[in-house]
Amino acid sequence: MTVFVFDAYGTLFDVHSAIGRFRTEAGPDADRISDLWRTKQLEYSWTLTLAGKYEDFWTLTERALDYALARFPSVNKSLKPRYLDAYLTLDAYPDARATLQALKARGLATAILSNGSPNMLQAAVNAAGLDKELDAILSVDSLRMFKPRPEVYQFTADTMKAAPGEVIFASSNRWDVMGARAFGFRPVWVNRTNMPDEYANLPPMTVVSDLQSLVNII
Ligand code: 2OP
Repeated sequence: MTVFVFDAYGTLFDVHSAIGRFRTEAGPDADRISDLWRTKQLEYSWTLTLAGKYEDFWTLTERALDYALARFPSVNKSLKPRYLDAYLTLDAYPDARATLQALKARGLATAILSNGSPNMLQAAVNAAGLDKELDAILSVDSLRMFKPRPEVYQFTADTMKAAPGEVIFASSNRWDVMGARAFGFRPVWVNRTNMPDEYANLPPMTVVSDLQSLVNII
């Protein structure tokens, strides 16, 4: 039976909405610090995993913010607790809820697989009102390693009681699509901003420009 699994950050939730809520207070480097915050958060997850180490994603999210604030001294550091709080209640993309509802209406199981730690994922899902539309919220935390390690995708297939080829995995992160494809999922790349392709040898099954288009691919 087909199951539909979503990446969380960048795919269901807009990671730039945290700083975005404080754009005026943050000043002219708001977009740059938001980009660097995300880049460092991901880098720390990958480098620690490569080194055989683990710290949870919330810890790495705070460390990445500390680094980004140090790199952009123009940005108001006293707002750090508010930037972090905002990360717990990120905006969902406007079509997230309707898409999950439509998939469920077709009888498909839906889940999140994310590098996020359980508390931050639950907070984001609750804030966006998506809890009823998801059958499972899976975090890599119990495995203490991050995507794109194959063990994490295997854990997802096992938990959802699906063969790898029965899992449609939607992510806006091309590196995550690569990992899902390497494992044997059927990945869909949600390429909202028409970014150039990467990882040519591990392509997505299909590419869509928004979440609602996912409903038409099955
Ligand atoms: C995720 O939600 C980090 O965006 C990545 O797993």
